[in-house]
Amino acid sequence: QATVKFDLSTVQPGEIKVVSWRGKPVFILRRTSDMGGCDKRTVAGEYTVVLGICTHLGCIPNWIPEEKVWHCPCHGGRYDACGKNIFGPPPRPLDIPPFKLEGTTIVLG
Ligand code: FES
Repeated sequence: QATVKFDLSTVQPGEIKVVSWRGKPVFILRRTSDMGGCDKRTVAGEYTVVLGICTHLGCIPNWIPEEKVWHCPCHGGRYDACGKNIFGPPPRPLDIPPFKLEGTTIVLG
């Protein structure tokens, strides 16, 4: 379907959920204060909302809770909790899906 709704209030601080949108994984991370602030473009309040597809060659990065980064298993690219590329070959931050907020519900698409 074209749009997907997800209730953000079901995500605990520090937790990440993966929502399928148009056949792609969308990562929804509820950041904790030790993860720092993000560029407003990438987030909805304390939530980071990004496409879970590495901007290098399209693998799916894994969240490493101990380091608070996404690690791409293919070539070692890394992204911080805001989705910003911080290490390795990824040329840009994780992409942002189109979304809007309706109360605590995020509408993707
Ligand atoms: Fe992720 Fe190459 S596909 S680092």
